[in-house]
Amino acid sequence: METKHVCLLVITLLCLIVSIADADTSPILVKKVKGKKVCDQGWECKGWSEYCCNLTISQYFDYYQFENLFSKRNAPVAHAVGFWDFKSFITASAIYQPLGFGTTGNKTTQMLEIAAFLAHSNFLWLWSGNRRAHSMGIMNYNYGYLGDCLKVDLLHHPEYLEQNATLAFQAAMFQWITPLKKGQPSPHDIMVGNWKPTKNDTMSKRVPGFGATMNILYGERTCGKGDVDEMNTIITHYLYYLDLMGVGREEAGPHEILTCAEQKPFNPSTTTKDSASS
Ligand SMILES: *[C@@H]1O[C@H](CO)[C@@H](O)[C@H](O)[C@H]1NC(C)=O
Ligand SMILES: *[C@@H]1O[C@H](CO)[C@@H](O)[C@H](O)[C@H]1NC(C)=O
Ligand SMILES: *[C@@H]1O[C@H](CO)[C@@H](O)[C@H](O)[C@H]1NC(C)=O
Ligand SMILES: *[C@@H]1O[C@H](CO)[C@@H](O)[C@H](O)[C@H]1NC(C)=O
Repeated sequence: METKHVCLLVITLLCLIVSIADADTSPILVKKVKGKKVCDQGWECKGWSEYCCNLTISQYFDYYQFENLFSKRNAPVAHAVGFWDFKSFITASAIYQPLGFGTTGNKTTQMLEIAAFLAHSNFLWLWSGNRRAHSMGIMNYNYGYLGDCLKVDLLHHPEYLEQNATLAFQAAMFQWITPLKKGQPSPHDIMVGNWKPTKNDTMSKRVPGFGATMNILYGERTCGKGDVDEMNTIITHYLYYLDLMGVGREEAGPHEILTCAEQKPFNPSTTTKDSASS
C-alpha cells in the first residue's frame, strides 16, 4: 500500500519535472516553405520564420545577466530602476524575434545586437520619460504613428509608455528595427550586417558598426561632434555589456566603427538647403 503511494508520488514528480523542462525548452517545430527552412519555437518565436530556427533570446541571455546589466548601470533616471525587467523585455521581444530581432546570424551576432540595443539605455529611459524626450526633440516618431503600429492609442495616452514596461520595450524595439526613412538602415540592420553604405554614406564617414546606430538614434545631438562625453558613455556601456554577457568587448570591432565622432548625421534636424531649392 505504502510503496504504491510512494510510486505514485514519484511518478507525479517525474511528470512535473518533465512538464517544467518542456515549458523551459519549447520544441522547435520545423517545416519547409518553398524550399526554405522555417521554424516555430512557441510563444517566444512564433509564426514560421527562418529566424525562429536560431536560438531565441532567452536561450542565450538570461535573467541574471539582464539584472547585472541593469543593476550596475549609471541610472540617470532613478525611477527607471526596477521599471525595466527581464520578463517585460522578453515578452516585448516575442513580437520582433520572428522578424530577426536578436535572432539574426550566429550567436555572436545575436549577442552583439542585444548588447547594442540595451546599451542605448538612455534612449530606452527617454521612452519612459517621453514628454521630456519629446521636448528635447530626440524622438523622431510621433505618437500617432507609433501607436498605430503597436495598436495602442498613444496619441491620447502617451502615459501608457511610462506605466507599462512591456509597451515601452515594444516601442523601443519598433524604433530599433524600423528604418526611419526609406533607403536608410535601421539600427537592427546595422548591427546584423544588412546595411551596405552608399557613396554618400562613405563621404559622410558613416560605416557599419555601433557608431552608426548612435547616428540613427541620436543624430547630431551625439554624433559628428568629436569625442564628446555623451557618446563615449554610450560606447562604454556597450563594451561593458558585451563583457557582462560573456561575448567580450573585442568582438565589437575597432574603435573606428564604434564611434560616430566624425560621422555626419543621417538625418540633420536643421534641413540643409545647400543642395535643394533656391
Ligand atoms: C541562424 O544561425 C546561423 C548560424 O548559427 C546563421 O548562419 C544563419 O544566418 C541564422 N539565420 C538567420 C535567418 O539569420
Ligand atoms: C559570426 O558571424 C559573423 C558575421 O557574419 C562572423 O564575422 C563571425 O566570424 C561569426 N562567428 C562565429 C563564431 O562563427
Ligand atoms: C502592457 O502592454 C502590453 C503590450 O501592449 C499589453 O499586452 C499588456 O496588457 C499591458 N499591461 C497592462 C497592465 O496594461
Ligand atoms: C547624395 O547626396 C547628394 C547631396 O547631398 C544628394 O543630392 C543625393 O540625392 C544623395 N544621393 C543619395 C542616393 O542619397
